[in-house]
Amino acid sequence: MTDAYTRTVQLSTEFIENGDPLGWFEALYATANGDPNAVPWARLTPNALLLDWLDRDLIRGKTAIVIGCGLGDDAEELAKRGLNVTGFDISESAIAWCDRRFPNSPVTYQVADLFALPEAWKGTFDFVLESYTIQAMPPELRAKAIPKIAELVASSGQLLVICRGREPEQDLTTVPFPLTKAELIGFQQAGLSEMEFEDLAEPGTVRRFRVRYEK
Ligand SMILES: C[S@@+](CC[C@H](N)C(=O)[O-])C[C@H]1O[C@@H](n2cnc3c(N)ncnc32)[C@H](O)[C@@H]1O
Repeated sequence: MTDAYTRTVQLSTEFIENGDPLGWFEALYATANGDPNAVPWARLTPNALLLDWLDRDLIRGKTAIVIGCGLGDDAEELAKRGLNVTGFDISESAIAWCDRRFPNSPVTYQVADLFALPEAWKGTFDFVLESYTIQAMPPELRAKAIPKIAELVASSGQLLVICRGREPEQDLTTVPFPLTKAELIGFQQAGLSEMEFEDLAEPGTVRRFRVRYEK
């Protein structure tokens, strides 16, 4: 049987080559048939880099939105910490899965595409979480995704980005496609101020960036 990562690479490569770089997410969730082992990023627990950051108590305000919320664990964690949370994902199957996992959740789960955001969301959220969504898009697409994410941040609001990191000379092969520091400058070009940049590179582990922005 094909493992989840191999299947993800096959599906994403096929869809990207056919000019549909966002179609593979729904295909992956739909064919997982409710088995989280078929979704490589499905940890069924909040991201440790989010938990550790939340413990610093830097969040101000009341409303939060989670970009590409997947199976909902990060959105649930933010709700547990008292925020009024919206989680959205382009995949209908992912959102249906969140609704099944958390039937009594205070989180509003919604199918939505980052590239066609509801007008009412723009400039609305005190805290925006982007974890591992833009790295799942080819570089030309994520350059367009970055300003869309920035649009969601309210005045004086915050954005936390967690992503894989790379040096520019490192080749991109298959998903996930790590980001360079230069690509992340797009958030500043979209009107946000970078407050903290953490390069979490440790020998023998995957290099990740965790960056906090403010508007
Ligand atoms: C690699 S997964 C990461 C999921 C989750 N954020 C996490 O940290 O585990 C990327 C997620 O983004 C969603 N996604 C991709 N493109 C999107 C778009 N244009 N709008 C909304 N969600 C999108 C996918 O369906 C998928 O659930």
